[in-house]
Amino acid sequence: MAPSTGPRYRTWVRISRLAPFAVVSVVSLAGCLLAFLSPWFLLFLVPLGIFGYITLILGLTVYRLGPGGYQRRIHELIATTVPLPPGGRALDVGCGSGSLVVKIAKAHPTASVTGVDSWGGSWEYSRDQCLRNARLEGAGERVSFEKQNGAALTFPGDTFDAVVSCMTFHEIKENPDRADGVAEALRVLCPGGAFYFLDLFGDPAFYPAPGKLRALTGAEPRPLTDLMPLPFPLRHPKVLGHAMLLAGTKPGRVA
Ligand SMILES: C[S@@+](CC[C@H](N)C(=O)[O-])C[C@H]1O[C@@H](n2cnc3c(N)ncnc32)[C@H](O)[C@@H]1O
Repeated sequence: MAPSTGPRYRTWVRISRLAPFAVVSVVSLAGCLLAFLSPWFLLFLVPLGIFGYITLILGLTVYRLGPGGYQRRIHELIATTVPLPPGGRALDVGCGSGSLVVKIAKAHPTASVTGVDSWGGSWEYSRDQCLRNARLEGAGERVSFEKQNGAALTFPGDTFDAVVSCMTFHEIKENPDRADGVAEALRVLCPGGAFYFLDLFGDPAFYPAPGKLRALTGAEPRPLTDLMPLPFPLRHPKVLGHAMLLAGTKPGRVA
């Protein structure tokens, strides 16, 4: 089969996370099929049920988020909704494979858009992938990508006219308090500039103090499901059920 020549945007589900569950499911299924040798092999039904269910959920999630699916729709929603002045500068914190950066550049034809990401660990994203996607989408001129830690961005304060981030703050493990990633993103936003953050803000495992998010942003989190209906299994709490949007404008400096 010829290699794909188009842009490649991987889903938020890492193959390295899905593969072990799929392997255990297949081995358990094979074990069950040996039940004709001994009924003891039916004990494999237990791991087959557990790991098979997880594999099914993860596999369906990949399918729903995949090409033309909900991941693209979510990025399009952010890109087309975030306000940017003509010739403005936008930043995407945790840009992954560059999908949202490219969509913002396309939705705002005079804007310049920067994507930053740590591109580390088991993530299947890279800066080269971002550059390639932007070039293939015809947005290469107005976008740039930098390897940076979202916990401590190198930009001076008040640099960007808009700052966005999608499903990233909860991944910034350098921040024991994940709300600190929100504060750092707001630091580089100009007063009066727009922020548009989508993350698992409703998950108490990551954000145990929702009041802190409100105090930082002055915005009321809105469930993603209020903005677009999500099919099974995306609305599951372990998938996007806790995803919420925080959007608003950074207050101007008090004179
Ligand atoms: C679920 S992915 C989301 C990617 C992208 N925002 C999107 O919507 O497709 C989480 C991203 O956070 C990035 N990330 C994790 N820790 C980070 C950090 N400390 N600084 C910057 N990016 C980080 C990962 O590399 C990954 O690209």
